[in-house]
Amino acid sequence: MPINESQIIAALGTVMEPDLGSDLVSLGMIREVAVDPAGNVSFTVVLTTPACPMKESIKQSCIAAVRAAVPESASIEVKMDSKVTSSCSHHGAQGGHHGNGGHGAHGAQGSPQRIRLDNVKNIIAVASGKGGVGKSTVSVNLAVSLAASGAKVGLIDADLYGPSIPTMFGLQNARPELSEGKLIPIEQFGVKLMSIGFLVDSETALIWRGPMASSAIRQLITDVDWQELDYLIFDLPPGTGDIQLTLVQALPLTGTVIVTTPQEVALADVSKAVTMFRKVEVPIIGVVENMSWYELPDGTRDYIFGRQGGEKFAKSNGLNFLGSIPISGSVREGGDTGKPFIISNPDAPTSAAARQVAGEIARQISMLNAACGCE
Ligand SMILES: Nc1ncnc2c1ncn2[C@@H]1O[C@H](COP(=O)(O)OP(=O)(O)OP(=O)(O)O)[C@@H](O)[C@H]1O
Ligand SMILES: [Mg+2]
Repeated sequence: MPINESQIIAALGTVMEPDLGSDLVSLGMIREVAVDPAGNVSFTVVLTTPACPMKESIKQSCIAAVRAAVPESASIEVKMDSKVTSSCSHHGAQGGHHGNGGHGAHGAQGSPQRIRLDNVKNIIAVASGKGGVGKSTVSVNLAVSLAASGAKVGLIDADLYGPSIPTMFGLQNARPELSEGKLIPIEQFGVKLMSIGFLVDSETALIWRGPMASSAIRQLITDVDWQELDYLIFDLPPGTGDIQLTLVQALPLTGTVIVTTPQEVALADVSKAVTMFRKVEVPIIGVVENMSWYELPDGTRDYIFGRQGGEKFAKSNGLNFLGSIPISGSVREGGDTGKPFIISNPDAPTSAAARQVAGEIARQISMLNAACGCE
């Protein structure tokens, strides 16, 4: 009896998506199933993010399931593809919502000033309580890592008073062009960038306060021709002041990533950030611990800022822990020389850690979107 396509689909229907609580066929993740006249099988698995950390294990599970259903002589060809799911938080006025016990709306949902970005599937704010903990470093390497996995990624530097993205990408003198009244983002390492640092000199931005600062930030978002994006990452200024509050309310956020060091003082400020996001009902994707340890030449770890403070904080507050990034000279150097370490030093343990964090963030976003039925 020659094998047919429905038998292949039945076999793949036994493969569970490890995070989404259902099988690949029910989730619509199996496409282009074909059996050629010689009985060779091919199909495509469409993941919810190209940065999926489970990509390889899902592929292997599919092969094993099909293998058991077809004759030994048949070859099995699996193509791994992805279509990033979109957050419902910015679709339509009523919006949807992810968890947090909210009533289907973020704090500022329905507010006339809420920004709409219809071609952007997910907006992620990277925040911290304390300054200098590595938000910009995490944002840059998250953006570059997601882009390298194949996603369409944008990055906005929302720090009006101390923009760092231009330097971190080696683009101090770049100036975006205007096309039909919109700014064209500057593209570097596969990421579309926008920063106040591209538009005005630092003295000009320094005198902006209140509404002027808010409108400058809005322009960085809405007056830019982003085209289609899977992920737009927002590097927030440090703290939990008015600017941050206004921003997270005005943005249709998928969720926020909180960066901290393991240090007690940083963690105290992280609590304030968590309280703020909960108050305005913005989902917290999780906590990244940066500067977790320094690896000594003999391979032992020096926990300079204390041990696992970020992870413990996440656990005790019911938040996801997204991973740890160690201290490394190449991280600072990457920031200063305009080449993110993930690009200049892809094989370093720090780069592996940053890629893992990026995969975990992408995975959590897919789960948030699946939980509220977003596509
Ligand atoms: N894991 C790390 N190892 C070594 N240096 C790091 C690491 N993370 C960040 N740094 C360095 O620490 C400094 C602060 O990092 P960064 O600018 O990313 O923090 P930030 O939270 O964005 O700061 P701000 O609050 O001023 O916006 C930078 O010089 C950066 O290169
Ligand atoms: Mg910063």
